[in-house]
Amino acid sequence: MSQTVRQIAELRNSVRRWRRKGESIAMVPTMGALHAGHLALVEAARQSADRIIVTIFVNPAQFAEGEDLGRYPRAEAGDLEKLRPFDPDIVFAPSAEEIYPQGFDTAISVGGPSSGLESDTRPQFFTGVATVVTKLLLAGLPDLATFGEKDYQQLLVVKKLVRDLNIPTTIIACPTIREPDGLALSSRNAYLSADERAAAPLLFETLGKLAGQIGGGAAIDDATAQATGDLERAGFDIDYLTVRNARTLEPVSDPATEPLRALVAARLGSTRLIDNVAVPRNSDADK
Ligand code: PAF
Repeated sequence: MSQTVRQIAELRNSVRRWRRKGESIAMVPTMGALHAGHLALVEAARQSADRIIVTIFVNPAQFAEGEDLGRYPRAEAGDLEKLRPFDPDIVFAPSAEEIYPQGFDTAISVGGPSSGLESDTRPQFFTGVATVVTKLLLAGLPDLATFGEKDYQQLLVVKKLVRDLNIPTTIIACPTIREPDGLALSSRNAYLSADERAAAPLLFETLGKLAGQIGGGAAIDDATAQATGDLERAGFDIDYLTVRNARTLEPVSDPATEPLRALVAARLGSTRLIDNVAVPRNSDADK
């Protein structure tokens, strides 16, 4: 049965014991309010390591003033219930004071893929994510950690920080899990009204159409402008809808040779949704 641990020192004691026995460790960082997307990350971790640590921590450092920190869903008892079938060894659910004790005054700022896109709207976001992910990885020193492709820019930022800081953890990317109508699972979907929920799958549908057109040779600017119009007419307020180099997130210079990713962030009412898909290579689009 999994043990809920609140303190870093206690987590480290277990990790030390496991290491002495030569066991491998996987970590699944989450902010709780778990859904099937998170559980797929836990399952992927379970496939690859002897011991599993799931972290549940709503990280104040990645929310700006006026964002949804206060209303972000918190459901620890329900989360523990959902995790039960996966039997993680430890659920690490620290307090904010444990992670950011009085006097805490350090931040991890990652360059490269953290610039633009999410950062244009949420300038503090990746520093907050990078700081907490660094703390969690240093607390558990896992061999691997699983992150979802749903937060594609976050995934690249975490990969970069691990590489740049020589943190000995392999980052495993897991595919986005979707509702049957295509909407990417997200804890924030709970904010959608019934009408917004009905409109929301258009985001993925439009992204898929855009990726297919570009994979089939359409000009990126033209196809993106058309997709933007489609979403705006359906009531989406778009922060960005763009096609970027899938490895760096830089603007595309040679669509024929670069790996490409289509990414979107848009609001429906007060709910901000993000999603992304791979652009198929020409040869894939022909299939
Ligand atoms: O993706 C999330 O849930 C969070 O950004 C993470 C990685 C757990 C850091 O707080």
